[in-house]
Amino acid sequence: MNQPEIIIIAALAASNRVMGKNGKLPWHIPADSSRFQNLINGHAIIMGRTTWEYDVEKRPATQCFNVIISTSTPKDEIAELQQQYPSNLLFVSSIPKALQKVSHHQQAFIVGGAAIYSQTLNLADTWELTLVEGDFEGDTFFPEYEYLIGDRFEMVNQENHPGHRYETYKRIV
Ligand SMILES: NC(=O)c1ccc[n+]([C@@H]2O[C@H](COP(=O)([O-])OP(=O)(O)OC[C@H]3O[C@@H](n4cnc5c(N)ncnc54)[C@H](OP(=O)(O)O)[C@@H]3O)[C@@H](O)[C@H]2O)c1
Repeated sequence: MNQPEIIIIAALAASNRVMGKNGKLPWHIPADSSRFQNLINGHAIIMGRTTWEYDVEKRPATQCFNVIISTSTPKDEIAELQQQYPSNLLFVSSIPKALQKVSHHQQAFIVGGAAIYSQTLNLADTWELTLVEGDFEGDTFFPEYEYLIGDRFEMVNQENHPGHRYETYKRIV
């Protein structure tokens, strides 16, 4: 089976790894949203059911192949959505199935949320992280990842901007 580059893409507070509040992002950073769109366009994206329902409000990214991981979405709802978006929306019941379904893509972006990040952090080839400065409260946290740096992943790029920075990590083993 062909395997795409698996890329985790996430924005998190630099101070405490907060990444979500009440089903939404805790901030609005247009530059980061544009960068996110530019990176994912034309590729596969994989997300958990909560991110699909609350964050992206059940609207698939039109220029991506959207894969939603869920065990609870009713069959009739899935059928209706897949009829509405026949070519770029798919529901699967596990992470291995999601990875199998994107095997024909060159890049597959894991776009959250926390439950999906924590299960894929170690199997990803690349992390594209946006570290947001400031104090944020939230209910969802990006998993601890720092312990893998130097051991399994290394930083290959860092870009500083007012209020946030981008860091790219690549797997080394
Ligand atoms: N800052 C960022 O970059 C970013 C990115 C994305 C999301 N977010 C935020 O993250 C929050 C949502 O994250 P979350 O952790 O609550 O939810 P999530 O990861 O989006 O979705 C969790 C759901 O995914 C399904 N799932 C997870 N693991 C599975 C597995 N192994 N097999 C089958 N299904 C599985 C389950 O759906 P079922 O219950 O249907 O089985 C589970 O309830 C929101 O606040 C959102 O705004 C932030």
